[in-house]
Amino acid sequence: MILIDGKKAASELREKLKQEVVELKSKYNKVPGLTVILIGDMTPSQIYVRNKEKSANEVGLKSEVIKYPDSIDEKTVLNKISELNNDETVSGILVQLPLPKHIDKQKIIETIDPSKDVDGLHPMNVGNLSSGYQGSIPCTPLGCYLLIKKIESNLVGKKAVMIGRSNLNGKAMAQLLLQEDCTVTITHSKTKNLREECLQADVIVAAVGIKELVKGDWIKKDAIVIDVGINKTDKGIVGDVDFDEVSKVARALTPVPGGVGPMTIACLLKNTIECFKRSQL
Ligand code: GUN
Repeated sequence: MILIDGKKAASELREKLKQEVVELKSKYNKVPGLTVILIGDMTPSQIYVRNKEKSANEVGLKSEVIKYPDSIDEKTVLNKISELNNDETVSGILVQLPLPKHIDKQKIIETIDPSKDVDGLHPMNVGNLSSGYQGSIPCTPLGCYLLIKKIESNLVGKKAVMIGRSNLNGKAMAQLLLQEDCTVTITHSKTKNLREECLQADVIVAAVGIKELVKGDWIKKDAIVIDVGINKTDKGIVGDVDFDEVSKVARALTPVPGGVGPMTIACLLKNTIECFKRSQL
């Protein structure tokens, strides 16, 4: 079984991006900038944002985090986004999710200039991805895609099963694999016979938030299994895949932690650099 080392893949990608930033700096005399907006003091979000900032600095990007208390009003955030849209030094804007209830997620996402939407969540980017046009691709599915391609470069005709249908993961992942000519099935919490669906899959991407849902007897021999899940348990963080069981059957599997997570952040940096490059055209 191949244990897919996301930490190593992310480190290699960051190294490439670092080099690219050096080249961009000498060509344009400026570096790409990433601004993250963090609302409230939800601990996991704080940790994610700290990691994003640290990685952005490491590859030489200009990085800024704007923090607001939970009680911040929506208008202030929308005004700040408009200001960042017009700021030439900002190449990418990310508003960390989830948001407090009184703030309208859709309004926030739609206010971000699509050309600075490093999350790929703006409807314009969602449409671009589903049409196969150029645009930002959500960081986690992009990271999963790069890991899958490392294992299997030719995905034509493969059966791919997504578990989970979120905008951030399942739906975007399905589009990426469709573009690779996979036959894609998107399953979710109401899917009947989930095990039977998975048993047919050459590629499984689990992003459903149910700890160790995917069992060894759900997996076809030689399947590639990507685990996006991050679930807290008494024994620490576990994924949506039962690692001990599935690692005995699958051809390749991502661990949790150390699989998809590091790639997500590296892809955020990649998206920021792509936005910068497109803005210089
Ligand atoms: N919260 C958890 N994952 C993500 C992500 O990829 N983007 C944003 N904006 N918020 C998140």
